[in-house]
Amino acid sequence: MKKILITGGSGLIGSVLNNHLKKNYSLSNLDIKESSDKTQKTIIGDINNFTDVKIASENMDVIIHLGAVISVNSSWEDVLKNNIESTRNIYESAKVNGVKKVIFASSNHTVGLFENDSPYKEIVAGEYNNISPESIKKIDENVPLRPDSYYGVSKSFGESIGRYYFETFGIQSVNLRIGTVQKVDTPKSSIRHFSTWLSHKDISQLVEKSIIHDVGFEIFYGVSNNKWRIWDINNAYKKISYMPIDNAENFRD
Ligand SMILES: NC(=O)c1ccc[n+]([C@@H]2O[C@H](COP(=O)([O-])OP(=O)(O)OC[C@H]3O[C@@H](n4cnc5c(N)ncnc54)[C@H](O)[C@@H]3O)[C@@H](O)[C@H]2O)c1
Repeated sequence: MKKILITGGSGLIGSVLNNHLKKNYSLSNLDIKESSDKTQKTIIGDINNFTDVKIASENMDVIIHLGAVISVNSSWEDVLKNNIESTRNIYESAKVNGVKKVIFASSNHTVGLFENDSPYKEIVAGEYNNISPESIKKIDENVPLRPDSYYGVSKSFGESIGRYYFETFGIQSVNLRIGTVQKVDTPKSSIRHFSTWLSHKDISQLVEKSIIHDVGFEIFYGVSNNKWRIWDINNAYKKISYMPIDNAENFRD
């Protein structure tokens, strides 16, 4: 059974993944807080502390790195500590402990400024007149980084350090540009979510296939098969057979 460490495992996506992966993998979590699910095995520790991360990642096959401050309005001081320095701690610990793969919760906010441009700005605002979904040139993994915030900058850094550790030390680095995952598993709290929603089933599939398949350095968009999605999921389909089953459109009133 593969051994997996999940950082930020007590949070929303951590809980979804613990539930999905616990049957087939040996899981442990590293978080500053306990999970509300008392059956989850959690080491209380801080990803900003290198020793905490190094100890928690001993003998692991894979690290799923979710721990972070998650607000797009996070301050520079907060992202520097919790998202930037911590992500270096994850990769350095993986190197020291011989962990083969890091799956990093990146974000759509690495390319968020595309949403200032047509047709993306109209689509995320729900203004679909004169746009056909088939005609949208989807944003893929080869576009330039266009972070929209310090948070987006911190996730861009996470992808960049993943590239460095893959090319220099051979650690597989899977970077998931996650769209919108919500506790109530529907896209209905904002019109933008009809484009960006990623259901619990689809993120579970995306992460599990990222564990199973050997890859090098990859960037995959984490989004369900939404009619109005603006991100390209072909790379994830080609490399790891990601085939999302949910579509936000099925939730329109
Ligand atoms: N939910 C989304 O829609 C979404 C979208 C894009 C990216 N992401 C990314 O996915 C990851 C998980 O997001 P989530 O929605 O589950 O968030 P969440 O806030 O529910 O979970 C994050 C977890 O990280 C932990 N954490 C924060 N700082 C820590 C530290 N210094 N040391 C140890 N643990 C720490 C928190 O206690 C929390 O349990 C984050 O990296 C986030 O940026 C989420």
